[in-house]
Amino acid sequence: MSGREDPEGDGTRVVRAGLPAPVGGQPFLPGPMFAAPYHLGEGERYYARYQNPTLEAFETALSTLEGGPVVVFPSGMAAISALLLTALRPGDRVVVPSDGYFGTRVFAHQELARFDIGVEELSTVDLDEVAGAGGLEGVALLLIESPSNPCLDVCDIAAVASAAHDSGCLVAVDNTAATPLGQRPLELGADFSVAADTKALSGHSDLLMGHVAARDTERASRILAWRTRSGAVPGPFEVWLAHRSLGTLDLRLDRQAANARALAETLVDHPAVTGLRYPGLRTDPSHDQFSAQMRRPLGLLSFELADAATVERFLAASRIAVAATSFGGLHTTVDRRAQWGGDHVSEGFVRVSCGCEDTVDLVADFVAAADSLVSPP
Ligand SMILES: Cc1ncc(COP(=O)(O)O)c(C=O)c1O
Repeated sequence: MSGREDPEGDGTRVVRAGLPAPVGGQPFLPGPMFAAPYHLGEGERYYARYQNPTLEAFETALSTLEGGPVVVFPSGMAAISALLLTALRPGDRVVVPSDGYFGTRVFAHQELARFDIGVEELSTVDLDEVAGAGGLEGVALLLIESPSNPCLDVCDIAAVASAAHDSGCLVAVDNTAATPLGQRPLELGADFSVAADTKALSGHSDLLMGHVAARDTERASRILAWRTRSGAVPGPFEVWLAHRSLGTLDLRLDRQAANARALAETLVDHPAVTGLRYPGLRTDPSHDQFSAQMRRPLGLLSFELADAATVERFLAASRIAVAATSFGGLHTTVDRRAQWGGDHVSEGFVRVSCGCEDTVDLVADFVAAADSLVSPP
C-alpha cells in the first residue's frame, strides 16, 4: 500500500468533504433541498434538472477525493451508461471487462451495438499484455475494472492507461470496489473514474447512486450536459444520505478490510473452502500489483464451496452472513454469483462482502458455518 501522501488523512478528508464553511445556527451538512422549479428572481436557480445545491455539495465532496470534476447519477449503471454514450460515436470500438460487473457487458452488448459501436471483451489479467503489445490500436475507449468484481483480479492501471493513450484510446476505470479512498484512477492516468456509490461509498445498503469523475473539465461538462438533457438526475434525499454516509467511509473501510483479512487468513486452508481470493494475502495472484497500486486493502473476498446446495447449508449455519447481492454495506453479505447467470464462475462460488461486525464474532461464525460442512452435527 502506498503511504500517506495527502496533507490530511482519509478520515479527516471524508468527514469534511463538501461541507460549507461554518455558519452560526446552521447544520454541518445542510439538509436536502427539495425543489423541481425554484422561484424565479435574483438567484441563478430555476429548475432542479439543471441546479440543485444538495447535488453540488456531494459532487464537491467527491471531486476532492477523486482529484477531478464529478457528476453524480441516480445509480452506478446510469453513470456508466452516461460515460459510454458520451465518449463513443457510431462506428467506434469499445473494450469492456469480460470478468467485471456483468451489467456493464449487458448494457454494452444490448444498447451500444444498436448504434453501430463494436463491443469487445478483455479479461483484467490480460490487459497489461494486450495494451503493451499495441492491442488497443483503433479502440476508442477501454473500460477497466480493477479490482474486478467478483474475482478480484488486478491490472497495472498506470501502465495500461499509458499504452492505451499511445494507441489513441481513452481509459475509464470502474472504481466501485476500491472507492476513491482505495484508488484514484485519475492520478493513475485514467481519463475517467466511474463508480456505483450504491456499494461501499454510501455503504448502508439503502440507496442507489453513481458518479463519473473526469480528468478535464471539458469532458465533465459533456457528461453534465448529458445528465441535464437525458434527465438522469438523482433525487436530493438519496444524495444527501450518501453525503451523510461518506463521513464514515474511512472507518467502515478499515473495519471491513480487517474483517476480510481475518476471514481470508482463517478460511484459506479450511477443508470446505477452495480457490479463496483475497489480494491482501501474499499467496494471492493479485497481491503484488494490488499492494503497489492500491492505497488500502479491500473488504471483499471470494471462495468456492462444493456446489449451490453447500452454499445454502453454509448460509443456514451462519448467524451473521446475509444472503444478498451487492456489496460494501455495513452487514456481511454472501452472494452466490452463479445464480445471476452473468459471471464465469462455478455454482459454489461466493463473493463475501465483509461488514462492520466485530472481527472476532465474524470469524467465529464463518468458521463454525464452514466446519458444519465437513462435519455435519
Ligand atoms: C463494479 C460495479 N459497477 C457498477 C455497478 C452498477 O451499479 P448500480 O447497481 O448502482 O447501477 C455494480 C453493481 O453491482 C458493480 O458491482
